[in-house]
Amino acid sequence: MTGGGNNHILRSKEISFIFDGANVTAHEGETVAAALLRAGITHLRNAPNSGTPRGMFCIMGACQECVIEIDGRKAEACRTTISEGLVIGRVPGV
Ligand code: FES
Repeated sequence: MTGGGNNHILRSKEISFIFDGANVTAHEGETVAAALLRAGITHLRNAPNSGTPRGMFCIMGACQECVIEIDGRKAEACRTTISEGLVIGRVPGV
């Protein structure tokens, strides 16, 4: 893209959350999936039979590949809005 004008991307307020014990930043209004992808986190669980790494697939609530633990309960990362201080991790044993 050429020419002048405003090339800034306006973002909502930066917040932080915890993923597997590490501090991660996000922006208010993002889904947990978007925040994780932007942070480069794509491995969310392991396949129950083969143990192979699994991650987000449909990003629209249809496949269940993004189920993780958010503040102690299972939830879909792509259907959950991030908020300050959430504690997120992979679901144990999955
Ligand atoms: S990525 Fe498919 S349900 Fe979230």
